[in-house]
Amino acid sequence: MSAPSNVTALPVAAADRPLVRIVIVGHVDHGKSTLIGRLLHETGGITPQKLESLREISARRGMPFEWSFLLDSLQAERDQGITIDTSQIRFRTPSRDIILIDAPGHAEFLRNMITGAAQADAALLLIDAAEGVRDQTRRHGYLLHLLGVKQVAVVVNKMDRIGFAEAGFRAIENEITAYLGDLGLRVEVVIPISAREGDGVSQASTRAPWYRGPTVLAALDNFQPARAAQEIALRLPVQAVYKFDDRRIVAGRIETGALALGDEVVFQPSGKTARVRSIEVWPVPAPGEGPTSLAAGQPAAITLDREIFVERGEVLSTPALRPHAARQLRVRVFWLADEPLEIGSVLIARLATSEVRATVSAIHDVIDPGHLSAFEGRRIERNQVGEIELTLSRPIAADPYGVNPRTGRVALEFGGRIAGGGLVISIVKREAAARVERNVTAVASAVAAQERVARYRHHGAVVWLTGLSGSGKSTIAAELERRLFAAGGLPTLLDGDTLRTGLNADLGFSEADRAENNRRLGEIAKFLKGLGHVVLVAAVSPSAAARARVREIVGENFFEVHVSAPLELCEQRDPKGLYAKARAGEIKGFTGIDAPYEAPAAPELLIETDRLDLAGGVARVELLLANAGVLAVPATSADDAVI
Ligand code: ADX
Repeated sequence: MSAPSNVTALPVAAADRPLVRIVIVGHVDHGKSTLIGRLLHETGGITPQKLESLREISARRGMPFEWSFLLDSLQAERDQGITIDTSQIRFRTPSRDIILIDAPGHAEFLRNMITGAAQADAALLLIDAAEGVRDQTRRHGYLLHLLGVKQVAVVVNKMDRIGFAEAGFRAIENEITAYLGDLGLRVEVVIPISAREGDGVSQASTRAPWYRGPTVLAALDNFQPARAAQEIALRLPVQAVYKFDDRRIVAGRIETGALALGDEVVFQPSGKTARVRSIEVWPVPAPGEGPTSLAAGQPAAITLDREIFVERGEVLSTPALRPHAARQLRVRVFWLADEPLEIGSVLIARLATSEVRATVSAIHDVIDPGHLSAFEGRRIERNQVGEIELTLSRPIAADPYGVNPRTGRVALEFGGRIAGGGLVISIVKREAAARVERNVTAVASAVAAQERVARYRHHGAVVWLTGLSGSGKSTIAAELERRLFAAGGLPTLLDGDTLRTGLNADLGFSEADRAENNRRLGEIAKFLKGLGHVVLVAAVSPSAAARARVREIVGENFFEVHVSAPLELCEQRDPKGLYAKARAGEIKGFTGIDAPYEAPAAPELLIETDRLDLAGGVARVELLLANAGVLAVPATSADDAVI
């Protein structure tokens, strides 16, 4: 057992300290309050006097001291209208400011998250070592899935009750990792602890020498904050267009990204393009002294280099990373109105500055937050969550929530009042992109698709492997290529690096160049898929929006596979020495070092190469393709591969 320590040294300056919001879920009996109490104490959040008075109170009552008393006493103070809100607890880890959100009632919490009043960047899920994974644990996992939380650390508490037995811990670890993995959640780490006795919270436990992973505090310190608005692709929803002498001024607020004079921009859903001619500010600055660029959060008033008609509601973006012109949206809604939401209900949907009439055309899962289980329902009652399809009376610009939270969230109005809110899960139908008339028609192949299937014994498909440099994409792709080829198939490897030596040699590593690189890979992959190839694409492809666009280009039989490993491991593998160069500042904009990697929110498959060996990773892809009907059976040898 380890002694509690006060981690009060705070070496990082405030401006460099990212804020991370972490939701903690788990049953009270599993030691949630104890863990929170101890975390607060061990990060220096509790004064010695407070602690002493609590010890005295417990001694006076003849009870052993419990860390959960700390929370009870804070709760009591709150009830008297003093100090802290116990549902949002703040403390600091060595490099992060943490807001720990204690998920109170599911309904209230879900509503806040889904309507945007609250957000969580990561989650701690607590399990009792003696009880293991129970129905309630699964419900908590499901809650995290609904909230769209991407990073999860699992804490197995009360390890002292099972004598710190490794076997018991591993069984829980495997079960919960598999369950959460199926829900598309990435488990960063599973930590054995005893919150009451202090093992594994801020200090490694001496009683679990077989565990080499981080403590709870170190895991919290590793969580990534939400992407900053300026790091996301440009979105400027148009609020108004003013006519001013002979100029038309387009005004709005830059929600994400940045904009500069001379940039080429596109308005969605109309698809009109122009360049930014001027940025207007008041009072009018001396010539040459006005701003040349604007960033997220700033109001913008611009003029364009050509006369195009744009209206309120359109969204300005860069041509490479534009929002969809959506006609039908799948939305996860939280419903607040007394009258239930039903198929055929007509609402007003508001998204950024646009407003459109929307009809509920389908209701999928309905979730009762009290039980956190989905059922096929026909209506969504007050305080329920559901996934619906909204058919819009005209196209509007929209993004999936995972791509851009600002343009991926809708408010719903019913009978003149806000009646719900929701997250855009996907774009079901989009307006076909206006094609430039070039008088070209695709030439059909002389060989029929079925003839190709008969020969190769698989259908055409695209497996898009995305992940950090060194995560193992190319290794997995090469092994898949070998196996499919050995089975008589037609695999084709499109490696990002390889294509950058020729076709894509003109492209660098800016966000726009990478998006163009991915678009080209996507177009080639689609073409080859049409000729029956199983196309294996290995490209870092760090932008979620660029990957979403590729998915759209390729259409059916597209499989996004996130090949993931901790950055440190990728860096250790570093065969080309690029990480070292990036660290030394010799390469700029290197993914993972000084450029972001946006992990897929809902990939078809996640392969964690720090946990799974090559054969295991390859087998998962084959199984995925088999389940999707691309291959009949995972080919273990050439003879086994029969359709
Ligand atoms: S993508 O981002 O455009 O999809 P792609 O996979 O084609 O990336 O190229 C990434 C490869 O280029 C890396 O594996 C690495 O070898 C190399 N590279 C060179 N400079 C950079 C950089 N600044 N960031 C990322 N990769 C780089």
